[in-house]
Amino acid sequence: MTEKVNNIVVLISGAGSNMAALIKTAQQENWDGLLGARVVAVISNKPGAEGLALAQALGVATQVLDHKDFESRAAFDAALQTLIDAHQPALVVLAGFMRILTPDFVAHYAGRMVNIHPSLLPAFTGLNTHQRAIDAGCLEAGATVHLVTADLDHGQILAQAVVTVLPGDSAETLADRVLVQEHLIYPQAIKALLQLL
Ligand code: GRF
Repeated sequence: MTEKVNNIVVLISGAGSNMAALIKTAQQENWDGLLGARVVAVISNKPGAEGLALAQALGVATQVLDHKDFESRAAFDAALQTLIDAHQPALVVLAGFMRILTPDFVAHYAGRMVNIHPSLLPAFTGLNTHQRAIDAGCLEAGATVHLVTADLDHGQILAQAVVTVLPGDSAETLADRVLVQEHLIYPQAIKALLQLL
């Protein structure tokens, strides 16, 4: 058993499949006993996010902070920071959290906030990554786990998974295969980072 307490807070906006993969891996691999690490809260900026029910079914508390209730990005981020910090997290995990973050918020979590992006960074930052990879004629696509910095999708790369682009792939078929890999690399990259903290 470890003395350390490595609370993890996960931020989502949608389906939450990466969040669920993280919680399941942490439970199956007994991160609590080995690393003192557990997902203590899942926070969504969207009240209807599918991932909220998924988190609850896995025994993790959920909170909603609707960005529409705030008049500015800075006000939302400040409230989000207060909500997150109540959990005293070692790590903040972005898992399909569809918000541009303010520099102050990012700086507050420097070195302890991670994201997964569905491309082989530094290629295809931003949205519609799979269609753009197909349109560019890429033979390989994939996903990247990286530290979050103020520069969108540009933080230090922690892990990548490569997926072959197949003839006839649509953005959806490619995304489905990349997502399978995301569910493998994200938990393991987070585990490796926790071991360094
Ligand atoms: C994933 O493709 C992830 O790479 C991107 O957003 C998607 C989230 O999916 N950042 P889910 O909510 O984890 O299912």
